[in-house]
Amino acid sequence: MEMMTSASTLIPGRSSIRTVNKGPSWCQAKTGLVSAPPTPILVKLRPSSPILRLSPDIPLYYARRVRMAQTFTARATLGLTKPTPSVIPHIAFSAKEVDFSEWKGDLLAVAVLEKDMSKDESSKFKNAILRRLDMLLGGLLGDASAEEDFAGKTGQLTVIRLRESGFRRIGLFGLGQSTLSPAPSTYQGLGDAIAAAAKAVQASNVAVVLASSEGFSEDSKLNTASAIASGILLGVYEDERFKTESKRLLLKSVDILGLAVGAGIDSKLKYAVVLADEASKIASMYRDVLTATILDEDQCKEYKMGSYLGVAAASASANPPRFIHIHYKPPNGQVKAKLAIVGKGLTFDSGGYNLKTGPGCSIELMKFDMGGSAAALGAAKSIGQIKPPGVEVHFIVAACENMISGTGMRPGDIVTASNGKTIEVNNTDAEGRLTLADALVYACKQGAEKVVDLATLTGACVVALGPTVAGVFTPSDELEKELRTASEVTGEKFWRLPLEESYWESMKSGVADMVNTGPRQGGAINAALFLKQFVDEKVQWLHIDMAGPVWNEKKKAATGFGVSTLVEWVLKNSSA
Ligand code: BES
Ligand code: MN
Ligand code: ZN
Repeated sequence: MEMMTSASTLIPGRSSIRTVNKGPSWCQAKTGLVSAPPTPILVKLRPSSPILRLSPDIPLYYARRVRMAQTFTARATLGLTKPTPSVIPHIAFSAKEVDFSEWKGDLLAVAVLEKDMSKDESSKFKNAILRRLDMLLGGLLGDASAEEDFAGKTGQLTVIRLRESGFRRIGLFGLGQSTLSPAPSTYQGLGDAIAAAAKAVQASNVAVVLASSEGFSEDSKLNTASAIASGILLGVYEDERFKTESKRLLLKSVDILGLAVGAGIDSKLKYAVVLADEASKIASMYRDVLTATILDEDQCKEYKMGSYLGVAAASASANPPRFIHIHYKPPNGQVKAKLAIVGKGLTFDSGGYNLKTGPGCSIELMKFDMGGSAAALGAAKSIGQIKPPGVEVHFIVAACENMISGTGMRPGDIVTASNGKTIEVNNTDAEGRLTLADALVYACKQGAEKVVDLATLTGACVVALGPTVAGVFTPSDELEKELRTASEVTGEKFWRLPLEESYWESMKSGVADMVNTGPRQGGAINAALFLKQFVDEKVQWLHIDMAGPVWNEKKKAATGFGVSTLVEWVLKNSSA
């Protein structure tokens, strides 16, 4: 096999590093680059060794990489460790009417509010469940809680080993102060704590009881059970794809006692399991309702996606871009809502020529720059399984990596997006918005009435909201409310920030319609205003900046943020 390359990609004495260079495709006149393209000098190389040969493209290859979450085999990197398939924990969740006193198993987890800990004159718990438990355990609970100063505060925990009871251990888990409506994040946190305790004591079966759930509406009972289950699933999950030895998960079953029973809660608990399972094949598994279209570089050129292709240009040969479009259509019946979910899919963001340098730049974490697309594809998989009626959804990802090479975009280059607008790229590290620009134009062309995009877009948003809260930007109060309602069910945290139009002034360019980077102040807002330029005015649009919540610094792992809220939002738009 003979390969052609531009001279600039040949490194003397290192002829094994070769790049097929079709020329800087993104900068041809039709995609709007104004700077003069370098003249390609074509030279013939010796036949390459088999391992260095570039393999032909497999259409779903890129999509699969994105879906596999965070890490993948880059063609350009020799010696990269290949991940083993993710192992999704299999835990049987069930809602039971059984009284806790009759439950047999390893760990009975009792969730306790601060008020539940109060005692009467004779030092007995006022709370009926704790009172009965304490009697059953001969006053052990009262003693332990007093000695360990367990007051039911959020995150407080005490586990007691028992001898003569059906359950081998009892754990008290603090939930803090009571609120009128139970917050799902509280119960997700509870699930997480239960998972940690179950691991610590090597429990294989666990039951969960809430000391007080009186006054919960039917809906909040279901949502609470679902939040506990997803908290436990996420809590036990460990990313072991690159470990040579994996820990065996002992936890097999979780019974949720006394909250609710019936088909409603069973399906909620089933959804929670679905949401955690993001790793298997999407479109091919649900071919009855999902169709996948994958555009390669040439097809993206036909769509005139100059903004996206500019970002992909440095790696166009080594790891070429793939534009992913998965279309969900319900199995039958009328469609009353058309939605699109667009995810930023930077498989790696080095910053490009505006390379991420210096302490705290977190370049090594920029494998997570595809968190938005992971959420979109995770949601696609769940929707493919749930098959909600009355709603159509487009899942769209302009996937590529932001690297450096002779074919790469230079700071100062001008690109033209697929809606015809020109952009002066004053910073190659503001690449996410460039890829999203063409993805949003494409989403609007699909006839979507509501478009939600998710992106690890700005460090500024992390500065503003910290590591666990995502920023929301939208001109539509209605869509904001839809997302807020969905997030109230799932417990994921969002906070609306303003789309301050007066800041657009700072995004104007002297030579093009706009620059891609404004001043540091209000960086997350400037980015959102940029995206707005690529959304059809008739379309309701909402942008989520999830640069903070994508990553759990304590676990050193991705969080899967966004999937559950997206699914809930789609279900709310369906006629289910
Ligand atoms: N992927 C980053 C955003 C990011 C930074 C996510 C830190 C998580 C942690 C994005 O592509 C980026 O580099 N944004 C720049 C924009 C700037 C150049 C206007 C940023 O936030 O510094
Ligand atoms: Mn960047
Ligand atoms: Zn980025």
